[in-house]
Amino acid sequence: MYLCRIIDNNFVMAKDIVCSGIRPTGNLHLGNYFGALRNFVRMQEEMDCYFFIADYHSLTTHPTPGSIYNDARAILVQYLAAGLDPEKATIYLQSDLPETIELYLFFNMNAYLGELERVTSFKDKVRQNPNNVNAGLLTYPTLMAADILIHKATRVPVGKDQEQHLEMTRTFAQRFNNMYHSEVFPLPQAIGSSTGLVKIPALNGSGKMGKSEGEASTIFLTDEPSVIRKKIMKAKSDSGPTEMNQQKPEEIENLFSLLKAVSSPDTVEYFDDLYNRCQIRYGDLKKQLAEDMVNFVEPLRQRILEIGADDAALRRIMDLGKEKAHDSAARTLAEVRRVIGYRN
Ligand code: TYM
Repeated sequence: MYLCRIIDNNFVMAKDIVCSGIRPTGNLHLGNYFGALRNFVRMQEEMDCYFFIADYHSLTTHPTPGSIYNDARAILVQYLAAGLDPEKATIYLQSDLPETIELYLFFNMNAYLGELERVTSFKDKVRQNPNNVNAGLLTYPTLMAADILIHKATRVPVGKDQEQHLEMTRTFAQRFNNMYHSEVFPLPQAIGSSTGLVKIPALNGSGKMGKSEGEASTIFLTDEPSVIRKKIMKAKSDSGPTEMNQQKPEEIENLFSLLKAVSSPDTVEYFDDLYNRCQIRYGDLKKQLAEDMVNFVEPLRQRILEIGADDAALRRIMDLGKEKAHDSAARTLAEVRRVIGYRN
């Protein structure tokens, strides 16, 4: 996709710039895949893409990470297994791009305590862990804005839960532009599927799939077939519909959402029809879902095992990504320092 920009009174075609990242706080799960990673893979084909592993951000909730490098390496492996290509996209570790931190500092100077305290993810973290309310947690959105804007990205593939962070990124970008009477930063948009930002539900009937809902409610790209089958067969359901065409309760809607993600449209229609006619047997639906899920995850898991064994190749990919990300970041930072009035 291309945008038209006017430079020196000439129209030039500029590629959309895309940026996103995932925290290395455990193996990737279906929420990460369908909310974000799947779009990374699609977007690398036609846009200028920067995809990183957010290993600074993981410090906000994991302050003593003995294995931070290995955790980040594991996510890189999973990016590559899903189809990210270091020749097409710039793939790097956030901690390999310290320019981000200088931009983070500039955004922090213009971010207000009140607005940071009102962020839903901050309030959730404070509730979950009242003894670890660190400044990094509070300023999570300014670091995220710096990640995105260091490359002047216009599109950010993320899941529904990141919507508010993107709104704040636009606020910080606009505020910076106003403050320094400049047009340095674009106002980036969150990108999801054709029907909007995606939320993959947990298997326990409520909430979104993710580590906070527990291992049993989350399907990881590294799960073996037997584990997937067990998790799905135990997923929450109910005693079945009692009226024709009755609205699905949340836990059943969730099973259908997972079915839509990994099964064919015919399969979804078949079970939807049975549900509407009050003839559905959830055991059959779960068995079908488990098989389709295994067929979806198993090739990914196999690629993860293969790619993870080649340490030298992974290091080369990290080095290449670091260099390419630095080129883009250095250009933005020079412009930022100039408009603020620093020496370059
Ligand atoms: P993180 O690591 O929590 O999640 C990574 C991505 O996965 C998406 N996601 C989901 N999407 C749909 N359904 C779910 N159940 C689900 N669970 C997770 C998230 O929306 C996200 O896109 N703050 C980010 C990391 C980050 C970032 C950035 C992202 C740091 N800097 C700059 C974009 C741009 C986060 O914590 O993601």
